[in-house]
Amino acid sequence: MADTTLTVRADAPIGTVSPRLYGHFAEHLGRCCYDGLWVGLDATNIPHREGFRTDVLEALRAMPTPLLRWPGGCYADHYHWRDGVGPPAERPRRLGMSCDLQVEDDNGLGTHEFLRLCALLGAEPYLAGNMGTGSPQELCDWLEYCNTPLDTTLSRLRAANGAPSPFGVPLWGVGNENWGCGGNYDAASYAREYRRYATMLRHVDPHAELVACGYEDDWNAELLATLGNRLHLVDHLSIHHYWSHGGPELDFDDADYYALLAEAAETEAFVVRTAAIIEDATGGRRRIGIALDEWGVWHPEVRTWGPGATARRAPVTYEQAGTLRDALAAAIALEGFHRQCATLSLANLAQIVNVLHAPVMTDGAAMWLTPTYHALRLHAPHLGATALPVAGDGPLVLPDGSAAVTATATSGDRGLAVTLVNRHLDRSADVCLVVPEVAGDAGAAVLTADTPRAVNSADDPERVVPAVLEVRADGPGRWRLAMPPHAMATVRIGPAA
Ligand code: AHR
Repeated sequence: MADTTLTVRADAPIGTVSPRLYGHFAEHLGRCCYDGLWVGLDATNIPHREGFRTDVLEALRAMPTPLLRWPGGCYADHYHWRDGVGPPAERPRRLGMSCDLQVEDDNGLGTHEFLRLCALLGAEPYLAGNMGTGSPQELCDWLEYCNTPLDTTLSRLRAANGAPSPFGVPLWGVGNENWGCGGNYDAASYAREYRRYATMLRHVDPHAELVACGYEDDWNAELLATLGNRLHLVDHLSIHHYWSHGGPELDFDDADYYALLAEAAETEAFVVRTAAIIEDATGGRRRIGIALDEWGVWHPEVRTWGPGATARRAPVTYEQAGTLRDALAAAIALEGFHRQCATLSLANLAQIVNVLHAPVMTDGAAMWLTPTYHALRLHAPHLGATALPVAGDGPLVLPDGSAAVTATATSGDRGLAVTLVNRHLDRSADVCLVVPEVAGDAGAAVLTADTPRAVNSADDPERVVPAVLEVRADGPGRWRLAMPPHAMATVRIGPAA
């Protein structure tokens, strides 16, 4: 008998896994935007394309990066878009502020540069507007500047700055964390302010998808209740979810290991609760998607809030070690995203380079990929495919009695893909994969290491990389594979396997 039997229900599709569920977040914070992505047009020591690091661009394209949110974060509620357009030498030098950091900000990476980055990456752009120190007029102007096809002073300015055609930016956030860094609003005051912004933005571009700032359950319910009969002004409700209960980034104990994975799994429950609040407020008459705008692990070494007695690194640059454990946590969260793809409209891992749960790290000329990068890349077959339910059964369980091996499956143009996680710290799992009525060749790649504390680094960039995993046919519609402990793998079945 197998340790775990996973049965994929190809006859009971859940919905489409929008590529937007694999979005990313780039904030002007620490070395994410400046240094990590942008080295500037004049950089001579780092190969770049139009100011963006070539090595990072290539990695992010391959990951892939279908959606990118910018410029914040808390930074967004101080940001004035006009500072970042026009000749770079004439752009003002501002105080860049986010998360208790202050930097000298030369605005070299502005709207045109960011939208060029999105074009190079094949990413949909998502701009976060300023409600903290901005105005409805300023945000309407940014929307007009980016999206109007008409001949106006702002579109002429856009053309003069190199973009005669509209950018057609689809997604617009109305503030960020306005319950906190974005102005310390209460839910009802934010709702009234949102109504004003959204009404005016809709006049400028009725097709722009507007994202309202959500928070926890009570805020979300009050926000939507206050919007009342104006819910048509909301396309997406933004929530953020950072995991903070996993102990130290590297030197975690076994209980911490399981705590982080459990916290990652609970992300799904937050999405489910938020969906119920939306359903309650709309009566099912309007679709408001859930935008999980920021998610991932935020370790105590780089945190000024939350649990954990670990000494904080000084100064806090928001750079943390990304271990195999973090990659497994991401894979577990993605299982939930697939299951909730009918209500979760987008999700952005925080953040894309050098900050928090980053898939890519840089140090001077060096660049390396974290285990989370490889986890995301192993999920690539799921983008745009149809999510299918997976039922698990078998004796292998974690200390809390929950299943050790879990999985998500999708069916797409190139066959079936199943991504499995063996959460068990030290037990390998003999897995039987059952997909009734499905035939084809199977192949798999696995991501693991001798310890879940393993990291990649500039000196050892390939310590945690995918490897081939053997998959054996075990009769019609059945396959067998051995999952190592603390590991994830993607099995592909079909012509492209
Ligand atoms: O991602 C770092 C910060 O986390 C963002 O600026 C803010 O939105 C959140 O609190």
